[in-house]
Amino acid sequence: MTARIVVLASGGGSNLQAILDACANRTIDANVVAVVSDRPAARALARALDAGVPAIPLAPARAEERRSYDARLADSVSMFAPHWVVLAGWMRLLTMPFLGRFPQRVINLHPAMPGEFPGLHAIERAHEAAQTIDLQRTGAMVHLVPDEGVDDGPVLATRSLAIAKGEPLADLERRMHALEHELLVEVLADLCGAREVCSA
Ligand code: GAR
Repeated sequence: MTARIVVLASGGGSNLQAILDACANRTIDANVVAVVSDRPAARALARALDAGVPAIPLAPARAEERRSYDARLADSVSMFAPHWVVLAGWMRLLTMPFLGRFPQRVINLHPAMPGEFPGLHAIERAHEAAQTIDLQRTGAMVHLVPDEGVDDGPVLATRSLAIAKGEPLADLERRMHALEHELLVEVLADLCGAREVCSA
């Protein structure tokens, strides 16, 4: 069974693009059936449209409570009946009114190893640590999102990335994104190849 993936993305969407490309060439046995963004101007939405995928801008209303937004988001996503909901550069915390609707189906990508640099600017913070405390490696992980923990949850895969002291931040970011694209595609290819998981 070809899996159905909904991607949530807030930004440029290079990881979304990696997923779209891998679905197109059948590296991943899945279709991206919708892309939702909390930022209507996000390039990720344009990438979805270019690929012929429904692109849904869903900005929070002014002063809207997080849980109310998350319930609306869940309603939008559930219309596409996804097997997997992939957070690919999704920059909002998600609460149980969303997560409770997709148990064991929400997957997050984060540019750090488990327990390291949760939250925003993880690559910058690892780069800073390389200069100040001689951190020699960082990494990326893909994990399930069962609850409201920040960049935390059962780990599906990790990949480490050496940091050379003095390396420009832009170079580290470029290498990190290349690594993330590979890692995310590998994990989704595995998950979507597992028939019993995808048809659950
Ligand atoms: C990626 O580095 C992703 O891991 C990160 O945002 C970037 C999105 O890039 N996500 C987080 O930091 C989540 N805490 P993209 O828009 O080019 O895919």
